[in-house]
Amino acid sequence: MANAIKGLMRTHHCGELKASDIGSTVTLCGWVNKYRNLGSLHFIDLRDKYGVTQLGFVNFKGNIDELKKCSLESVIQITGVIVARPPEAQNANMETGAIEVQVTELSILSKSDIDTIPFLPFGSVEATEDLRLKYRYLDLRTKKLQDILLLRSRTMNKIRSLLTDENFVEVETPILYKSTPEGARDYIVPSRVHPGQVYALPQSPQTLKQLLMIGGTDKYFQICRCFRDEDLRADRQPEFSQVDMEISFATQEYMKNLVEKMLKKIFDLESNFTLPMMTYKDAMNIYGCDKPDVRFALKQIIATDIFKDSDFATFATVANANGLIKAMFIPESMGQFSRKDTDSFVEVVKPHGGKGVAFYKLAKGERSTGISKFITDEIEKKLFTLSEVQGDGTWLFFADNTHSVAHASADALRRNLGHKLNLIGAGKAFLWVYDFPLLEWSEEAGRFTACHHPFTMPSRDKLDVFMNADHKDPNGPLGKLTAEAYDVVCNGYEIGGGSIRIYDQSVQDRMFKVLGFTPEETKGQFGFFIEALKYGVPPHGGLAFGLDRLIMILTGTDSIRDVIAFPKTSSASDLMSQAPSRPSEAQLKELHFNWTKS
Ligand code: AMO
Repeated sequence: MANAIKGLMRTHHCGELKASDIGSTVTLCGWVNKYRNLGSLHFIDLRDKYGVTQLGFVNFKGNIDELKKCSLESVIQITGVIVARPPEAQNANMETGAIEVQVTELSILSKSDIDTIPFLPFGSVEATEDLRLKYRYLDLRTKKLQDILLLRSRTMNKIRSLLTDENFVEVETPILYKSTPEGARDYIVPSRVHPGQVYALPQSPQTLKQLLMIGGTDKYFQICRCFRDEDLRADRQPEFSQVDMEISFATQEYMKNLVEKMLKKIFDLESNFTLPMMTYKDAMNIYGCDKPDVRFALKQIIATDIFKDSDFATFATVANANGLIKAMFIPESMGQFSRKDTDSFVEVVKPHGGKGVAFYKLAKGERSTGISKFITDEIEKKLFTLSEVQGDGTWLFFADNTHSVAHASADALRRNLGHKLNLIGAGKAFLWVYDFPLLEWSEEAGRFTACHHPFTMPSRDKLDVFMNADHKDPNGPLGKLTAEAYDVVCNGYEIGGGSIRIYDQSVQDRMFKVLGFTPEETKGQFGFFIEALKYGVPPHGGLAFGLDRLIMILTGTDSIRDVIAFPKTSSASDLMSQAPSRPSEAQLKELHFNWTKS
């Protein structure tokens, strides 16, 4: 406490008093965590975010009846003398377990209404998640959430200090801005002074950080808020934070080195840590997704060719229709499956479009169950040779005319079995996934969309193909191009993503054309940006970490809501403030809106 700033209503916090403080007079403030009335003896456990201190009232000068007003969760201030607890009352599991404070003065600063309090924020909190979110300020009193807030703040400090040491400059960028396409819908804010016009909240500061490079900033970072109106998941919020970076003259090698340095600092990794690398193609073929959890094996093989001439018509049809058949072997030592288990696999793949999971078992070298009657010795030999596995076990197959469905089904069942069979080891498995496709064809839109975002550089050796190939042909060469884009993956989460950028005006113009923008639309939405590319642009690249996901991994939670002080539900609402809410008629009028009441 030597250098503490004077002026708080307490001399100490509730987690720091020890045997060495015995005899001192202290003032503490906090919440009543527990009150025990043993007739002649009264005890209160006083709690703040730092810990709990036991209070005794043997020397209390005030009216002991005052104590009864100290309902749980009331905030009180006490002054008293620190004494040793009798040996039988000492608690080695408590930081302050050797002492108690014999209270002489008590004031109740804020009484809590124990009859209406929705839940008590200590011990094992018994409340549904909705109730906890509605009363988030109560839930925030729990040690779990306070520890997470502290870790989040410390992690942000570590990141700031590392990047500042590397000569990065933290620059804030606008929130009321123009659309920055990152693949989601925009949140828009109507303008009062410009009737009928809107701002868009940034999906990320992508164009702005590139303009900072054009503006000579050289190395930029920002811990910033991004807004995306998209379907939410356990690791997605409509408003989330990024550690956003952009660097002039950066190559992919620099970006990977920078990320390694940051991960070492954030996760306290060994000094010789390097990021294992994997191409997008390998990630998809081996694990069925671009963010594989490589803490456990269960690799997949592409078995399409093996089934081209098979008697199993379902597979032969898929194989001959340019579909995809993947196979995954679960050795007997990892898991064995009952009929009920194999029947349940379909439920795992259904949400991903999968129609089923074919399988057969191999015990003492004998094939049985499932599709075993269609599996010849020759097919089985090929499966084993390709997959480099051996022994008894269960072969699982994922077949679909649409490749992405076969991949996603295999990924979903792999993740599911990883949990069910307890295959997921402790620790953190990082990956640098690279060589992403540049474009993907959207059947819905009838055009290509950008896999990362429209500012990503096509792989340079194929730039002429990018500039000239037919951009309306879903099966043409454009769909096969890769990009200078990369993701950082940890334990099955995409924790960061970035790319080297286009810095040539004609390439950027071409990108918007390929993505289906008319010249007028490009000018209207990105004219300022395209123009900036005319006036001397340093080649540049960048990356953004998802800060919330970093904290999820650091804390081991699988819900993003745990790491955000005031999160939203999966339907993007705030249960506490009841946002979103209907604007008042006066606001609507000011904004020139003509909404019919619903
Ligand atoms: P990207 O869209 O890949 O790239 O986002 C970067 C990282 O942000 C995190 N993230 C999210 N976290 C929580 N909720 C969400 N809804 C959400 N969406 C994304 C992920 C992701 O890896 N401007 C580019 C970066 C760049 O190119 O430099 C961008 O935003 O961890």
